[in-house]
Amino acid sequence: MTTLGRRRVGILISGGGSNMAALIAAARDPAYPAEIVCVISNRADAGGLAKAEAAGIATLVVDHKAYDGREAFERAVVERLEAHGVELVVLAGFMRLLTPWFIERWHDRLINIHPALLPSYKGLHTHERALADGVKIAGCTVHFVRPEMDVGPIIVQAAVPVLDDDTPDTLAARVLVQEHRIYPLALARVASGAARVVQDAEGRERVETRLPSPPAEALISPR
Ligand code: GRF
Repeated sequence: MTTLGRRRVGILISGGGSNMAALIAAARDPAYPAEIVCVISNRADAGGLAKAEAAGIATLVVDHKAYDGREAFERAVVERLEAHGVELVVLAGFMRLLTPWFIERWHDRLINIHPALLPSYKGLHTHERALADGVKIAGCTVHFVRPEMDVGPIIVQAAVPVLDDDTPDTLAARVLVQEHRIYPLALARVASGAARVVQDAEGRERVETRLPSPPAEALISPR
């Protein structure tokens, strides 16, 4: 794939932006099928803004509090994304709920990362809840965004063991390492067209990736 064919990506953040940084690092490779053209934060104090600036990426703050309602805020975000010629939008720790209008505007061109193995543990405090339930395997998911929160066709997942002495923080750190691996992988597949949404006869959606079958290895935890 030539540099000319790279898809233009805008990243939305609200916080530290470690996933954003992983995507920016991956996209430094000219062979990567996407380029990060702007980073937008709804918070002026988001730590990720300085990281993006240091990487030479255009950054913008669109403060949701300055707008009268969710849709006015989102229209301002869309205006910025369009001004940068963005084709794909990536949510990386973006802590605002999006309206169906925004989500439909970017249908199948809007992806999110969630720190759990969806459809388990939607919402917040995923690691606390997983530990409270005593699950032995946790993980993370990259998915296309649909109007319902943390719902949408799954692109890539990674699983990690839960250890007996885990705290929410140690589990979060183990999952985050995998987030930084699968988000660049998932974006590359979406940007190159390798991952695409298909529907079955009942209208249920899933992502087809057409990759060679991996060896059938299980993650057994504890082992
Ligand atoms: C990540 O755990 C991500 O899964 C969740 O928010 C967190 C963002 O972390 N959606 P960072 O800002 O990318 O470091």
